[in-house]
Amino acid sequence: MAHNHRHAGKPRRQPQAVIIGMMGAGKTRLGKEMAQMRGLPFLDADVEIEREIGMSIPDYFAQYGEPAFREVERDVVCDILDSFGGIFSLGGGAPMTKAIRRRLAQYVARGGKVVYLKADPHEAMERANRGGGRPMLTGDAEKRWMSLFRQRDPVYRQVANLVVPTRGMTPKAAAKRMIEMVAEHTVHVDGRGIEPYDVRIGEGALSHLPEVLGKQPVRVALIHTQSVQRHSDRARGLLRQAGYEVSDIVIPDAEAGKTIEVANGIWQRLGTEGFTRSDAIVGIGGGACTDLAGFVAATWMRGIRYVNCPTSLLAMVDASTGGKTGINTPQGKNLVGSFYTPAGVLADLRTLTTLPNDIFIEGLGEVAKSGFIMDPQILRILEDHAAELRAFSGETFLGTPLEDVVSELIERTVRVKAHHVSADLREAGLREFLNYGHTFGHAIEQLEHFRWRHGNAVAVGMVYAAELSSLTGHLDRDTVDYTRSLLTSLGLPTSWNGAGFDEVLALMHRDKKARGNTLRFVGLEQVGEPFHLNDPDSEAGRGRPSTVCRTREWNRSGRCEVNIRPECKVGADHPYTLRPRYSGEQPTATNWRDNGNEVTADQGHGGQWAESGAARSASAGCVRFAGSRGAASTLHPVGGRIRP
Ligand SMILES: NC(=O)c1ccc[n+]([C@@H]2O[C@H](COP(=O)([O-])OP(=O)(O)OC[C@H]3O[C@@H](n4cnc5c(N)ncnc54)[C@H](O)[C@@H]3O)[C@@H](O)[C@H]2O)c1
Ligand SMILES: [Zn+2]
Repeated sequence: MAHNHRHAGKPRRQPQAVIIGMMGAGKTRLGKEMAQMRGLPFLDADVEIEREIGMSIPDYFAQYGEPAFREVERDVVCDILDSFGGIFSLGGGAPMTKAIRRRLAQYVARGGKVVYLKADPHEAMERANRGGGRPMLTGDAEKRWMSLFRQRDPVYRQVANLVVPTRGMTPKAAAKRMIEMVAEHTVHVDGRGIEPYDVRIGEGALSHLPEVLGKQPVRVALIHTQSVQRHSDRARGLLRQAGYEVSDIVIPDAEAGKTIEVANGIWQRLGTEGFTRSDAIVGIGGGACTDLAGFVAATWMRGIRYVNCPTSLLAMVDASTGGKTGINTPQGKNLVGSFYTPAGVLADLRTLTTLPNDIFIEGLGEVAKSGFIMDPQILRILEDHAAELRAFSGETFLGTPLEDVVSELIERTVRVKAHHVSADLREAGLREFLNYGHTFGHAIEQLEHFRWRHGNAVAVGMVYAAELSSLTGHLDRDTVDYTRSLLTSLGLPTSWNGAGFDEVLALMHRDKKARGNTLRFVGLEQVGEPFHLNDPDSEAGRGRPSTVCRTREWNRSGRCEVNIRPECKVGADHPYTLRPRYSGEQPTATNWRDNGNEVTADQGHGGQWAESGAARSASAGCVRFAGSRGAASTLHPVGGRIRP
């Protein structure tokens, strides 16, 4: 089907990483190590240049001088940047050449990773001198090295998009860290009313904790659940090593942790332990834990620094971004809370190693949602890897191709969320599109007393929203069917039979997304094109057999079954299938005729029908009607067949 087309064209070849840094930083050594670990080829610019000039670099320097050398260097480096797919290390002076900087900037813009390998000056200096044959270090080597460092360090920082400090690390550990950082994805969240922050996604992302917390905090409250103890231990180690005083705070699991009592307990503890405005909070856990931790951070002294470390797929793709924090009350979920921007989000893929399969799958519901509302590539990835994703096992997934798949899905989903929340922080317009599938999903969650997990409820809600979009003439049947089959292939539910439709409808009316008396949905015109579907005729909402009302409502009454038939649609630009308004009583000839080529409208429709010009035919219980899209909402365009 339409969603199957593959990535068009081959991506151009470019290095997986380009390493820059001072001489003696270990660029060649670590680059080789890194390449070997990843099974990639390695090139060293200086070796390639010597091959090109047919002599050693010191000889070339002596014979032709530095400017001539820089020219050769520029040509060789630019050539390799355009044609080589492995790990590439540059000479220490290369980034000082403007043309090379420009090429590196283009490389970064295409997703390239320029790693600044930042060694301890003394270690690097010693290595550089030991090696000998460095034309740039002639004379007082140490003094030369330091003065070059002062010149080059700011340029390296500007050119690189990753900085890897290697002080005190073994070459193996440093190479491993470089690999992790190169594989890391960063989504920058920015927009009106938000202080910008980064969501960093990757194996080992927790190691950015000290850098995100900054130098100011003395104390850090590490809030987590028992379920992620292994990861909070790692975080605590990193924090202590960086010199923070860490208060370890364990809260009850899941929703039980999102209460005023738990928040109060933490406030008291922060008070006793002397937390000030300049201290900080780190929340590490699923969305419930990070919501609570964020809420405490937002309220303690009117807001202290907060770092969000999500450990479930859902928390990574959804709860981490957008700034919502909060707690539940006995009356409902998330009734108390605040918008509060974190200093940063660290989604460490290593935390997923302990995540149970069903909770991972549930998170895919929100991932798919982001695909439907904005990013079709997400759907393609889900399709291509459905079987592996469905079989997700935390213990074994690191280091497998699935890790890269999951990492890309997280990045793309966070990007979708960031896009929708950056336009307006508070619930409105664009942000509301994130609620695709949620109006119905929330009703399911409530009727199931939250025994249904959110992502599962949203999956069913998306099927409902797709059906509704199709019933109201906006979405083609193929996409509705595709919605079902994709979600099913991921192990997500697509139907629910837990209650009668009127109960669902009543709840949807009460949902906080319903404004005033209007029932608000997010519908789909096509994949990637959501729209606001306000107050679809309640009959249209009813007309969804397999998601909700077939078994209970309609058959129990013994009266009729709504049966949406794709073939009822005419192939015009704006085809609708219609079922005349009908009050719940037996349909009669006054509001329905299916045996002629003309449909007699009931009074309520007369004007509209006349205006849009025509019911043309009806057959096999299907009414064909071509009208304009604008008239759709007043026409009650519900497709179907009514069987007494
Ligand atoms: N702030 C927002 O914008 C936002 C958005 C979506 C959801 N949420 C909130 O997030 C919560 C749902 O998030 P959730 O699905 O992560 O639920 P959750 O926090 O209840 O986590 C689900 C379960 O998985 C466990 N778990 C999480 N990570 C684990 C790991 N790495 N290893 C082992 N176990 C782990 C948890 O302990 C819990 O038992 C809800 O409270 C919801 O309101 C908030
Ligand atoms: Zn959601």
